[in-house]
Amino acid sequence: MLSKLCRKLVPYRAGEQPRDRRYVKLNTNENPYAPSPAVVRALRDSDSFAFARYPDPDCVRLREAIAEHEGVKPENVFVGNGSDEVLAFAFAALFDEDKPVKFADVTYSFYPVYCDLWGLAYRTVALRSDFTLDRQGYRELGGAVIANPNAPTGIYEDVSEFIGKDFPVIIDEAYIDFSGAESMAKRAALSKNAVAVKTFSKSYSLAGLRCGYAVANPEITEGIVRVKNSFNSYSVNALTQAAALAAVCDEEYHRETVEKVIATREEFCRELTRKGYEFIKSAANFVLVTVPDGNGEAAYLRLKERGVLVRYFNAPRLKDKLRISIGTPQDMTELMKALTS
Ligand SMILES: Cc1ncc(COP(=O)(O)O)c(C=O)c1O
Repeated sequence: MLSKLCRKLVPYRAGEQPRDRRYVKLNTNENPYAPSPAVVRALRDSDSFAFARYPDPDCVRLREAIAEHEGVKPENVFVGNGSDEVLAFAFAALFDEDKPVKFADVTYSFYPVYCDLWGLAYRTVALRSDFTLDRQGYRELGGAVIANPNAPTGIYEDVSEFIGKDFPVIIDEAYIDFSGAESMAKRAALSKNAVAVKTFSKSYSLAGLRCGYAVANPEITEGIVRVKNSFNSYSVNALTQAAALAAVCDEEYHRETVEKVIATREEFCRELTRKGYEFIKSAANFVLVTVPDGNGEAAYLRLKERGVLVRYFNAPRLKDKLRISIGTPQDMTELMKALTS
């Protein structure tokens, strides 16, 4: 009884969210710290009568606050239900079925899923042996998608050369706050072709509330709105809008949390070096670590048995690696103990 499209779909496989026992959970790049106390206050003080009404479909107050944070105008900002949704809408708004969109062979594995869902052609461009972008591969194309920092490598690269080109480019900046580098959001807003996509899930500790946004020129954001309104006019619920607004306005808490995660990442990398592990230097809130005996799956299962969840990708070039999210210092000590014992 299923449609041809549905029968062919191979959905994205999200990291496990197990309920069977307590794990040191380092498998989905969540933030180990709670969101800003201002978020909790905003949720507690929410007017329950407002829940009887539909939320603001245009997320006006939140877009204004994000615009101020990014140094752009509200019409440059589109807000969605997690950056996954923003990415899905942006793919539909920007790419065509007859001109292949390109992305790396090792990157966020949701990109090919969006292409298949919308019926878009795509080609992967192999990262070089050091897992950096092969820029020659992005010459003839209908569009490009670049995660920066990339996932699951954690590598940050300067991608400003893609801005201003004659093809649309999506720069997925889910992890940019952990890189110390400048977001491309402001430049995207002024460009004809670029969209920067960001999320509240990682650096703002709001993965459970689902909020992400895109920054681009108003023609592009209006196009993304058109896709959204052809799908779900009210995709961002009222509580999420209130929480994200409080989070983006508490820049001090955000900065402190990001600094704590970066400090833990750097200490974790020093510890990996001391123990002789190979890993890729990360600009994100996770590290891609090579398993000494080359068997990533066995190491993943061993860690899981010991109560530590990390991410293993059964994919070419990643079979000997584990992607380990940065937790609290104590989480990382427990991980290290489980990894080396
Ligand atoms: C590169 C990248 N982009 C986007 C997302 C989606 O994040 P969210 O939908 O929680 O905003 C993720 C999630 O892990 C990611 O790794």
